[in-house]
Amino acid sequence: MKRILMNKNTEVLVAEYNETSKFFDRIYEVKDINFAPYILKSFYMEDDINDTPFRTNLSEWFKGRGIPSWRDKLDLLLHRLNITAPYELLDKAFGLSLSDQYWLKPDGSGITYDDINFFDNDFDYAEFMEASLSTNSKVIKKESSLKTPNNTTDGMLKKAWIIDKETRYLLKGGYKNETLQPFNEVLASEICQRLGFDHVEYTIDTYKDMVVSKCPCFITKDTELVTCYQIRNDMKRYDSVKDYEEYIKKLEDNGIENAREKVENMYILDYIIMNEDRHLNNFGIIRDVNTLKWVDVAPIFDNGQSLNIEYYDEEEVHISGNGRFFYEVKPFDEIIKIVKNLNRIDISKLDGLVEWFDNLLHKYQYLTKMSDRRIERLCILLNRQINKLREKIK
Ligand SMILES: Nc1ncnc2c1ncn2[C@@H]1O[C@H](COP(=O)(O)OP(=O)(O)O)[C@@H](O)[C@H]1O
Ligand SMILES: [Mg+2]
Repeated sequence: MKRILMNKNTEVLVAEYNETSKFFDRIYEVKDINFAPYILKSFYMEDDINDTPFRTNLSEWFKGRGIPSWRDKLDLLLHRLNITAPYELLDKAFGLSLSDQYWLKPDGSGITYDDINFFDNDFDYAEFMEASLSTNSKVIKKESSLKTPNNTTDGMLKKAWIIDKETRYLLKGGYKNETLQPFNEVLASEICQRLGFDHVEYTIDTYKDMVVSKCPCFITKDTELVTCYQIRNDMKRYDSVKDYEEYIKKLEDNGIENAREKVENMYILDYIIMNEDRHLNNFGIIRDVNTLKWVDVAPIFDNGQSLNIEYYDEEEVHISGNGRFFYEVKPFDEIIKIVKNLNRIDISKLDGLVEWFDNLLHKYQYLTKMSDRRIERLCILLNRQINKLREKIK
């Protein structure tokens, strides 16, 4: 079927879209490549629009919008949604997402972005939320439950978009039986707020005896998230420090103010909470979809995989840890060296933070069943990182 790839109200290209394979079999016309997903631009060759890499990457990009194969408890979710693979969901709601403005318009149809976008138009989230987050959900019944932005969420953790008093929020659970991720998200927000870092505000919420994190959508009808992965895709790889420097330069060249400081802030946060998961899709920039202007560094998001979550051990507090820095896994003490001037941080703003976190973990202990011993160890770890950072500032 002939479809037009749209970026909000702008036509990007016209293609033959195969509804069974979800592949773009043929491209008829490219209307404006500048409005295409950022990652596709470098594959585009004007004199051969059906060039295989461009078309393949278009299909890959589209499939990549779906729920990934590594989503926690994917089998259960698929069973509850009564489908066999996440890609079946891809075009059920025009491919729309709450993290960007791309959609597939049937050729010749009069449908407009205003009619269908999920920022203005409500969606039926209750059944998907239950299917995704609950331990004992039934198979969903309503077809409208499959017409939501939940079809196009990335990431490993169980999650669901909901609407609460007109605002779109993303709920995220923990991984398997782990409950620390939501608390780490909230801790990260608290640190960012105290230190004045741009961030997504996560709060703790509960959904049927389960602790989840809740954050508002940071994208608007006029913006999209372009991740570092997309931006770096056509850039040569050197070593992580050089890759980082080139990334900063690219942001600065595109007019983002204080780009270096803002990206540094993310690595300062990662140091304090020992975030192991800062891969290139967990940060990026905000682009205006009407003007294509690079507006800002994206507010800091996805900080759950922190405080030694991967290798927690009742007996031991791990002394060192590794974070992610571009294509490398590196000790936090190495990564933090990229921050040009740590003295700009007022570390006294973190006074009382450990006690605050201790209280938070205890407050929800009745649900998480986290042991006192573990809470104590998490607090020791957090305290140690704050002290280590304080040492570096002196
Ligand atoms: N508040 C938000 N607003 C808009 N998009 C978001 C928001 N939070 C996450 N996303 C998008 O959803 C993806 C998955 O969310 P993330 O928090 O990274 O989950 P996970 O921990 O499973 O990786 C992100 O990579 C981003 O594209
Ligand atoms: Mg993520």
